[in-house]
Amino acid sequence: MAGDSRPAARIRLACPDVGDEEIAAVTSVLRTPILTNGPETAAFEREFAAYHGAEHGVAFANGTVALVAMFAALGIGPGDEVVVPSLTFVSSATSIVQAGATPVFADVDPDTFNLDPADAARRIGPRTKAILAVHYGGQPADLAELAALAEDAGLLLLEDAAEAHGARYRGRHVGTWGKAGMFSFTPTKNITTGEGGLVLTGDGDLAGRLRLIRNHGQTEPYVHTLLGSNWRITEMQAAMGRAQVAKLDRILHRKRAVAAELDRLLAAMDGVTAPVVRPDRDHVHMLYTVKFAGGRAAREAAVDELARRGIESRVYFPPVHRQPIFAGTRADLPVTDDLAGRILSLPAHSRLTAAELAEIAAGVEAAAGVPVAVA
Ligand SMILES: Cc1ncc(COP(=O)(O)O)c(C=O)c1O
Repeated sequence: MAGDSRPAARIRLACPDVGDEEIAAVTSVLRTPILTNGPETAAFEREFAAYHGAEHGVAFANGTVALVAMFAALGIGPGDEVVVPSLTFVSSATSIVQAGATPVFADVDPDTFNLDPADAARRIGPRTKAILAVHYGGQPADLAELAALAEDAGLLLLEDAAEAHGARYRGRHVGTWGKAGMFSFTPTKNITTGEGGLVLTGDGDLAGRLRLIRNHGQTEPYVHTLLGSNWRITEMQAAMGRAQVAKLDRILHRKRAVAAELDRLLAAMDGVTAPVVRPDRDHVHMLYTVKFAGGRAAREAAVDELARRGIESRVYFPPVHRQPIFAGTRADLPVTDDLAGRILSLPAHSRLTAAELAEIAAGVEAAAGVPVAVA
């Protein structure tokens, strides 16, 4: 894959948008005696939830354990199935396994790479408890259709919004459409705390169970009433998260401008399709993923040419159902398998300059042998 065993790229795929505000926030926590489980965590949860119009937020050490806690807190476990896309990061599915339940993979839309509601419907069986909608690369999934499907079938709609901070579907933020929604804050995301996760929910009891699971199920000192673990976020991370939430609008504004410029540069190229954004939602472009009509050979040529020019690119994601840990899983996912050979994510972070964006497009052009429209 791109970047592996190659010299460090000059133009990186992702670059945290971190500055003096984050440094000051973390430093000020370090001057206090409270480094975990304190006021910064509570404020980060409040501010992130308020931004998204959610009632409750519960922060975690990372997004993966936040997902495991979400399933556990909802009583999803052994014998239960959760419908999930395969074209996602592995922990959308492994978190289901870690909760004791079984992921059932459904296919995706060939344009948006998001769960196909019709195919998700076909995967529902007597053991299905929930649908986990993943907002691929920052574009909301078909939430109205998935919510209706879940309601008709008596299932929970849950959201893996790891990549979609601030994205809206029909005017309402992701993470608030289902029973609960998870966000991740690794450094490739639009906002970061280094490592971190957070669950939004409108259900106060669920938020309470999530807090317990995060902290060893402890209801009072050394009284453990629920099976939990240590999945707490530190106060330093939470303070950094608050500074990042304060910048989220600016970062998303910049990301949209970067994506629009890449769209323009790639528009004239045959054989390369820019991301398709549905009109009733906004895309926050955590990823800028293009599709090569020429399939795997064209994609690999672009990866190599970009790497030669010092530009990082990556396949997000090799499908989960093809991973060795899921060997033996029966899953007929023709769209996912086809996309796996065509897609490539290009650098699209908030700090890219116009010259760097032109370089990225020129690299794709050189690989495709087709002219690029440069202003
Ligand atoms: C769609 C998706 N789900 C889950 C995760 C897991 O989050 P984390 O890496 O914070 O554990 C990520 C990000 O890495 C992701 O992109």
